[in-house]
Amino acid sequence: MGSNQQTLLVGAQMLVADDKGILAMDESNPTCNNRFKVHGIPQNAEMRRAYREMIVTTPQLGDYISGAILYDETIRQTTADGQPFAMALTEAGIIPGIKVDLGAKPMAGHPGEKITEGLDGLRERLAEYGKIGARFAKWRAVFAIGEDVPSRSCIESNAQTLARYAALCQEAGLVPIVEPEVLMTGEHTQEHCLKITREVLRNVFIQLNCQRVLLEGMILKPNMVLSGLSSPTQATVDEVADATVNCLLQTVPAAVPGIAFLSGGQSSELASARLNDMNVRYKTRAPWALAFSFGRALQEPALDIWAGQVVNVKAAQHALLHQAKCNHSARGGDYAAAMAWKPL
Ligand code: 13P
Repeated sequence: MGSNQQTLLVGAQMLVADDKGILAMDESNPTCNNRFKVHGIPQNAEMRRAYREMIVTTPQLGDYISGAILYDETIRQTTADGQPFAMALTEAGIIPGIKVDLGAKPMAGHPGEKITEGLDGLRERLAEYGKIGARFAKWRAVFAIGEDVPSRSCIESNAQTLARYAALCQEAGLVPIVEPEVLMTGEHTQEHCLKITREVLRNVFIQLNCQRVLLEGMILKPNMVLSGLSSPTQATVDEVADATVNCLLQTVPAAVPGIAFLSGGQSSELASARLNDMNVRYKTRAPWALAFSFGRALQEPALDIWAGQVVNVKAAQHALLHQAKCNHSARGGDYAAAMAWKPL
């Protein structure tokens, strides 16, 4: 095996080792600003920097978090002391990663559907990100569930784009996180989400194989199989665990080392409870690690407490560490609802 392949293999395994998970802190500037707006926090580069500094300097975060996904602006920023964030993470035992897609844009001829852009110039961008410390990358494709959507062409186009991104990452020695997200918004049933997620994942793996992606050197970041947010019938925690793992068993080859779920707008508590249940029921049987790559489910209590104020940094870090610990416990099947974060 070539040294590049070895780097990918070890890199992918490290991202899901020791019951740790990935912290998604790669919100684009508009998304980060939207979250700040809700909390009345000024929306500018310095506040985004200060917020990310609070996160990356959280003591002991590396005990529970294996990697952190940064955004283009963030990977170029430093702590107040002038240390680049990628270096601060590495020193904390956390692998730095980078979001490299340029966002989901309206798909021509497909009302209500999106195609993720960013392949042009990606080889050059990956080379630069590698030089400034990134060891893995992320690309998100998004599928809404609705009447007659997602279409076959939306699924196939996004799957091929994800696979071409993953191949370029591996060429550059970066572990690709492949994120096809079926959204939870809507009134659809859990069965409908299962059908769409299965279809999406089947297509994604067909394309990953076509593009000769080394499955051992990548991480899949899927949605959990959930009832639509506005559906009157909500699947139980056990039903979510069963449907999600069975869907993955039917679609994800055993060569993939890890599944790192996105939280997608679930509450922190539900995301942890569902991840925990999957590990309680399937950890010893599943061929891949059942891990997490949460954004909102890890950050929300901390953002709420921080509120843009220096005096709140320690309390916010405490909340972030607590969330990380909860999900680390969920990977071990040891999470209990009593552990859920309680605001003071
Ligand atoms: P959420 O867990 O908030 O969905 O964020 C994960 C992510 O990286 C979305 O691309």
